[in-house]
Amino acid sequence: MKKIFVINGPNLDMLGVREPNIYGKTTLADIRKQTEKVAEEEGYAVEFSQYNGEGEIVEALHRAYTEAAAVIINAAAYTHYSYAIADGVKMLSCPVVELHISNVFAREDFRHGSVISPYASAVICGAGAFGYSLAVHAAAHKLKNA
Ligand code: DQA
Repeated sequence: MKKIFVINGPNLDMLGVREPNIYGKTTLADIRKQTEKVAEEEGYAVEFSQYNGEGEIVEALHRAYTEAAAVIINAAAYTHYSYAIADGVKMLSCPVVELHISNVFAREDFRHGSVISPYASAVICGAGAFGYSLAVHAAAHKLKNA
């Protein structure tokens, strides 16, 4: 079965307790289960990961280069300034869906910019934890129409 890599960045391991008014009460473990279910329905396996370190995310992108059919990435705060992660995404030839749980455009100014978006095939934000399911469908759709 082809794999979709779902890569999560810093502080997303705290979902459920972290600012629930912004991120909701769903935990990352719940999101993982739901993402795997939706991916299976679409005919894909999932490699789901979370890293607080920038370098670990870059390494996951390197693995994705050879192992992933598509990548879903919520790089969290790194989204807004990590050129290392942006370069890692730029390197990939598979579909990449950039994802944010919150509507970053309705928040602080520093969240309005993404150094990753120019290299993403699709960007989803503001749909809450459900965004992960949307991202799987978007990735599957991109792959079907590639
Ligand atoms: C986030 C938005 C980022 O601005 C923030 O730093 C995060 C999570 C989101 O999923 O809404 O940690 O990527």
